[in-house]
Amino acid sequence: MTSRTEELTAELGDALLQVRPALFDPDGRVGGLIDWALRDIGFRTALFRFVDCLPSLDSADEVSDHLRAYFDRDEVVLPASLRTALRLATGRWTAQVAAVALRSNVRALARQFIAAETPAQLPRALRRLHRHGVSTTIDLLGERTVSEAEAVAHLAEYRALLEHAVAVGGGDISLSVKVSALDSQLDVVDAQRCVARLAERLRPLLEEAAQVDALIYLDMEDHQLKELVLDLFQVLMEIPGAPRLGCVLQAYLRESDADLSRVVAIARRYPGRVSVRLVKGAYWDTEVALARQRGWPVPVFEDKAETDAAFAHLVTRLLGEAAVLKPAIASHNAASVAHALAVAESLALTPEQYEFQLLYGMGEGMQKALVARGNRVRVYVPVGALLPGMAYLVRRLLENTANTSFLRRTFVPDLSEPSPRTAGATARSSGEDGFRNEPPLDFSRVAVRSDFSRAIDQVRSRLGEVVTPVVGDGDRATDRIQPSVNPAHPDQVVAMVHQAGPDEVDAAIARANEVQPAWQATPVQERAAYLRRAAAYLRDHRLTAAAWLIFEAAKGWREADADVCEAIDFLEYYAAEMARLDRPRRYASPPGEDNTGEYLGRGVAVAIAPWNFPLAILTGMSTAALVAGNPVVVKPASNTPRVGRLLVEAFRAAGLPAGVLQFLPGSGGAVGDALVRHSGVHTIAFTGSREVGLGIHAAAAQTPAGQRHVKRVICEMGGKNAIIVDRDADLDEAVAAIRQSAFGYQGQKCSACSRVIAVGAVHEPLVERLAQAIESLAVGDPVNPGNRIGPLIDSAAQAKVERYLAIGQSEGRLRAQGRKPDEGYYVAPALFTDIAPHHRLAQEEIFGPVLAVLHARDIEEAATIALDTDYALTGGLFSRHPGHVAYVRERFRVGNLYINRGITGAIVGRQPFGGFALSGIGSQAGGADYLLQFLLPRTICENTLRRGFVPEMLE
Ligand code: FDA
Repeated sequence: MTSRTEELTAELGDALLQVRPALFDPDGRVGGLIDWALRDIGFRTALFRFVDCLPSLDSADEVSDHLRAYFDRDEVVLPASLRTALRLATGRWTAQVAAVALRSNVRALARQFIAAETPAQLPRALRRLHRHGVSTTIDLLGERTVSEAEAVAHLAEYRALLEHAVAVGGGDISLSVKVSALDSQLDVVDAQRCVARLAERLRPLLEEAAQVDALIYLDMEDHQLKELVLDLFQVLMEIPGAPRLGCVLQAYLRESDADLSRVVAIARRYPGRVSVRLVKGAYWDTEVALARQRGWPVPVFEDKAETDAAFAHLVTRLLGEAAVLKPAIASHNAASVAHALAVAESLALTPEQYEFQLLYGMGEGMQKALVARGNRVRVYVPVGALLPGMAYLVRRLLENTANTSFLRRTFVPDLSEPSPRTAGATARSSGEDGFRNEPPLDFSRVAVRSDFSRAIDQVRSRLGEVVTPVVGDGDRATDRIQPSVNPAHPDQVVAMVHQAGPDEVDAAIARANEVQPAWQATPVQERAAYLRRAAAYLRDHRLTAAAWLIFEAAKGWREADADVCEAIDFLEYYAAEMARLDRPRRYASPPGEDNTGEYLGRGVAVAIAPWNFPLAILTGMSTAALVAGNPVVVKPASNTPRVGRLLVEAFRAAGLPAGVLQFLPGSGGAVGDALVRHSGVHTIAFTGSREVGLGIHAAAAQTPAGQRHVKRVICEMGGKNAIIVDRDADLDEAVAAIRQSAFGYQGQKCSACSRVIAVGAVHEPLVERLAQAIESLAVGDPVNPGNRIGPLIDSAAQAKVERYLAIGQSEGRLRAQGRKPDEGYYVAPALFTDIAPHHRLAQEEIFGPVLAVLHARDIEEAATIALDTDYALTGGLFSRHPGHVAYVRERFRVGNLYINRGITGAIVGRQPFGGFALSGIGSQAGGADYLLQFLLPRTICENTLRRGFVPEMLE
């Protein structure tokens, strides 16, 4: 068979060369650009980024401005034609000409891969393909919708495309559907309900397809969605009267072998053969990057040869199952296709039993050869305008220009450069000290979801447990007991909490000062080991810990899990950081002088934690103090004492000596204030509101008689964070990121986005899409993973945010508002427009799901508005203009600036977090400077000269 495969590979390879794609024709206008891109990586990056943003630019000035910003840079080597265009693009009239020429070039590029820009153009494209003896499967461009209105419109367009295909007739009709475009609330965390919703939504399309005997493929997207798509496929197969259905397997996924077995098992249950399209997979770069960012195993093969081998193996298996399956071999690689032909021959399959599939505009020579051989060929026909089609176009450009691409190697064989695909992919994602972030749970796995669900049930059965303060050697009950409740069901008691008071404060501080010398003398490695053991405990109990967060703080599944991960990160990161700081330090020491430095713990610390990150921030503040050699007294937030108690449990399991970490649940007035004013306290770490933070700062400045030190205050306070959305921003990305940044955890994060500053003409489309996105948000009890928004923390927070809704209506216009349940502390998410920079809605921290949109003339004005607040915590920019990115990078002085992504979710060790102005004082948490705040620097200088004898000069 090997020699037969080789023979066929040579035959198909020759056939492929008969039709040179315009993309690889260096003399054509499109091929010329690509040819240059293949030779220069700087130019390739600039070209793809420019192509990506071009459809969103609506004036010639903008085009020429971007052209210069992308290409007029030292690292980009330009072809002569583009250099001329660049020169031309400087004058107003000539800019028009250059813009028209460029647009037409990019359109020509898109036409290589996109068959029709509108449904009306589709029939012509289909007829042309039919004339070549191939059938088709039609794909509607556009992925990942952000609102239900968009999802519904997308489905309607599919139905229209089906009608067009029926009108054309002449062959086997097929559609290829991407489920991510059909449901704006699609999230694997709620996979079961998503599958049910999608099945229901697809029903009309399926019925129409069944009537005309059309074949519906469910395209395979990224790995996260794979299980969900296969589940949906299985559910659709069960619908009586369903049309012919097809699914897609990606050979680059290590799991595809097992998935094929599952598909075969499904297929055996039904009469008629199930179509299975085998592809190599189109999201390789994204899969590698995202897995590395999240610390998950990379789900794809990392060596191209492994993907090819897996493809060949799966082809053999698929064709072997041709009795129950209708295999579709989708590849433009002559060797892969030849292997399939050789296997089919060896199995004596007839051409009716399987087919080949190719993408529109790719491998046309091979397509002709296969048709001529009598094989069945189907072409994948993308339809849609350039803007929604950009993700598809960029994928095709990346794929075709990768040096691993078979087509590129066939048509441009003389170029060999080190592949950035593999080199970049292996870049480290963790710190040099071996610290690695705790990977979040992968909720796409059904086992993870059911374990999580079970943990919620377990914790539900433990609701009402007693929480006591920990003072000195153990638990200390008091006679002041208060319930902590579930914000989604205020009559559900999460814990009965013994409240600490002034006596417990005095006793705890006294005990902390007693143990201070011994703790300070404990070697750093030992102190760090306690933190690592506590981290291990939390890791072992991460599911129950997250469940407590859901009940007591009303966090959603992902947010609760992230809180636990961050707590583990703080423990391990600070353990590693302290080991670094503990290394002996020697300053410049001329002969006869020995200068060394060391750090000492500052003394007893107090951590006053917020309820919005009730485990992560509590852990971060208190364990930074601990590892630096300071006993710590922890006051959890009044609303979340049960979660706070998890830290005590973790350190008990770690064997921490008594008195080193004490725990005082209670009110801010009774406990927090007494701790702050206590003369036995040296350092106060606080995260919370600006009002309380400034009060602490003032109170801590007092030095009553007998107090022999000045207290140090580390304060993280509020934010009034803005995201600037530039004219050329990618709105798909911007809207999704704003939705998450503004409404994730109900907007109750100090990093949350509460202002959007829209630049120029982007205002209307942005507002329109944001409004639809907000109206689509599912609001309800976070125990149900389908709910994106839960209740606020308590009735006072609810009342406060409701007051801001009224203020917003008087200052601007309520453009959209979501829904909310009746029971619980909910506020429906709201979007206000026509807000001016001086309005209260633009100036005051709200801490709820309220978003204000402001309008700026240009990027300069946007930056000015963004900076016009008391705060400087987080900020963001969505822009594809390199010059504007550089400008905002420079001007937008906030603690954490995020570019082209959401502005929440800082990760320990990667994005140290914290702001300035009235957002806080202190170094950023989770960063290299943080521990220094809990340490006293000490320098020792020893004179080593004795009567002319200098030991260092002996040599
Ligand atoms: P070739 O042999 O050149 O292989 C390129 C592929 O190899 C890459 O795309 C990647 O999968 C893999 N690869 C590259 N570098 C690698 C590395 N370092 N390590 C490991 N593997 C590496 N895709 C998809 O994901 N979902 C879908 O639903 C569809 N649908 C679809 C329909 C039809 C009809 C066709 C023809 C194609 C698709 N595709 C797809 C796209 C398909 O995944 C893509 O075209 C192929 O990956 C290109 O593979 P070839 O065999 O043509 O080329």
